[in-house]
Amino acid sequence: MQSRMGAILCNLCNEENIFIFIAVAMSDVYSPPERVAVESHCRGMETYKAMYKESVEEPHKFWGRIAEQFFWKKPLPTDLNDFMKYNFNVTEGPIKIEWMSGAQTNICYNALDRNVENGLGDRVAFYWVGNNPEDKGQITYSELLADVCKFSNALENIGVKKGDRVAIYMPMITELVVAMLACARIGAVHSIVFGGYSADSLATRICDAGAKILISADGVYRGTKMIKLLEIAVSAMEKSAEQGQEVTHHVCVSHIPRITGSDAEQQKNEETIARVWNDKRDLWWHEVMRDSSTEHECAWMDAEDPLFMLYTSGSTGKPKGVLHSTAGYLLYAATTFKYSFDHQPANDVYWCTADIGWITGHSYVTYGPLLNAATSVLFEGTPFHPTHKRCWEIVNEYRVSKFYTAPTAIRALMKFGDDQTKDYDLSCLKVLGTVGEPINPEAWQWYHKIVGNSQCSISDTYWQTETGGHIITPLPGATPTKPGSACFPFFGVVPEILDEEGKVIEGEGEGYIVFKQPWPGIMRTVYGDHDRFEKTYFSKFPGYYMSGDGAKRDKDGYIWITGRIDDMLNCSGHLMSTAQIESVLVEHPDVAESAVVPIPHNIKGEALYCFVTLNQNAEFTQELVTKLRNMIREKIAPFASPDFIQEAPGLPKTRSGKIMRRVLKKIANDDKDLGDISTMADSSVVDVLVEKRREMMEKK
Ligand code: WT7
Repeated sequence: MQSRMGAILCNLCNEENIFIFIAVAMSDVYSPPERVAVESHCRGMETYKAMYKESVEEPHKFWGRIAEQFFWKKPLPTDLNDFMKYNFNVTEGPIKIEWMSGAQTNICYNALDRNVENGLGDRVAFYWVGNNPEDKGQITYSELLADVCKFSNALENIGVKKGDRVAIYMPMITELVVAMLACARIGAVHSIVFGGYSADSLATRICDAGAKILISADGVYRGTKMIKLLEIAVSAMEKSAEQGQEVTHHVCVSHIPRITGSDAEQQKNEETIARVWNDKRDLWWHEVMRDSSTEHECAWMDAEDPLFMLYTSGSTGKPKGVLHSTAGYLLYAATTFKYSFDHQPANDVYWCTADIGWITGHSYVTYGPLLNAATSVLFEGTPFHPTHKRCWEIVNEYRVSKFYTAPTAIRALMKFGDDQTKDYDLSCLKVLGTVGEPINPEAWQWYHKIVGNSQCSISDTYWQTETGGHIITPLPGATPTKPGSACFPFFGVVPEILDEEGKVIEGEGEGYIVFKQPWPGIMRTVYGDHDRFEKTYFSKFPGYYMSGDGAKRDKDGYIWITGRIDDMLNCSGHLMSTAQIESVLVEHPDVAESAVVPIPHNIKGEALYCFVTLNQNAEFTQELVTKLRNMIREKIAPFASPDFIQEAPGLPKTRSGKIMRRVLKKIANDDKDLGDISTMADSSVVDVLVEKRREMMEKK
């Protein structure tokens, strides 16, 4: 299965003339396993190359053929030049991306009605697996369609119209899928906010989107802890009303009473409801559904009508509402799902562990799988509850064949040793996907060997909220993979690597990874701020979409993503901007200034290390550190909690006053080689910071 590249072959001759081969592994290359390759949609690199060539040279042909498999109310444009229209060059006018303009469709119709009409109504769309192993359920395609129709009618009853924004703050339950598809069905733009965000973060997103409708649930268990979503949602609605954005209707799923949990928590949940419920605004999901009809005529959407928005961190600190549109996203979510995981509709059970609150969940829990009539697992819990074997239990029980998770989860599981899978039959697994950050080769190899029993293809999928779907990824039946490399571009994607001056680096080299032309699923704008869209992604290198990541290309043409090159950090797969954290820290009256840098962390990938400069007379105490940490948890989210907060009597700055993060990163990492510090205004601050770091570490 495994071949060795760059092998140095020494043949030594002994007395009996037997050759002894000594192969020295320079770098490992793993060929697609035969059991995956035989059934794959794209077998072998030659097929990939031919398909890729057509996809970038004649996009209308390549995507046109795929589009024909879906339902169009108004047909696709016949003029080739109308199929994809774009301007990627800011110096030549506004950035514009249009696919299949003139056509009309509905993504919900294609995900549900079309499958039911094709006779797949009885197929399971989702096996729902609760946080508590006792809790489980399932929903077929026809049942899902009936619920979506009911909820579409319910939304229309409370006045939701095409183009309205609807905020969603829910746990991983089938109602979340129903809510998003109902929005898509009536043409409302869903804006899902991950259920781990704080009330402040939810309020900011409600306000920015101008959402008048919110859909939530009373609560959910994460492991043994109950999260009171309703309380957070109500607090967010109050905060957004203060900022002038009133939520007129709030629909809440009653989830806690129907799942396994403690009586005490049930009681608390009832008390919370009694305390915060507002009859004028709040409606129960089951009540609005009760008398709603299962018949609903969907709204026909223009190809470029917005489908959803999803916030992602921005380097200025304010989150950006990434806007995706209908037809292009439909094609791209469907096609990437089919090829990156080599989806086999008749046999596969697919499981993506990501929360729907992230783009991974949008494209690869909801839209991609449903557009392919897949059967998936929808998991409410965490991989560590009740034990770290939960994932293997679920794979075994549901015979999962395609599994998609994040490097941070893999690293956290690795800690529990190599025999954790031995009690489970994981032979059903064929493709193992990873996403969220660069995967270190050690974790890749563990995933391949221990989880995949060396019999699976690994898909290291590189992409972003902005890209809508995978943009660099191996294909399971085609690509010989190298641990840690996302390998090659997906169909329609044309990457380049540029140096600081914007010069194209050919062949081996390292620089900024950028993209030359649009693929169907790329974002169309930042909601309400096209200027920010152009400035963030298109201004540094006119003519290209810039992802903000660095990458290197090796001698064999493989692409290796090296991580962010802007002021972003990636903690457990959650992208955050340093500015966002800094702005919370300086809100404290004792803090004058702060600078946040990433430090490597063996499970989270990166952790936050904060330097804070205090105002005169303020004292740096443990209480202050705790307070600052709590502020970040409350204003952003618990997952943003820093690992280190150290006192910084002064920060290293250039003469023009710019904080030298490069130097702070070295100090935080205890790296003595600070590089060139000749531009630093006052280099004496460095010794003080090193000393303060030492003091802090001693106390830890
Ligand atoms: C950033 C995007 C895409 C869904 C999850 C995160 C990093 C993502 C990989 C990968 C190396 C990766 C990049 C990217 N990233 N996947 N396979 N290899 N880096 O979405 O929050 O928009 O974050 O995550 O830095 O820019 P996101």
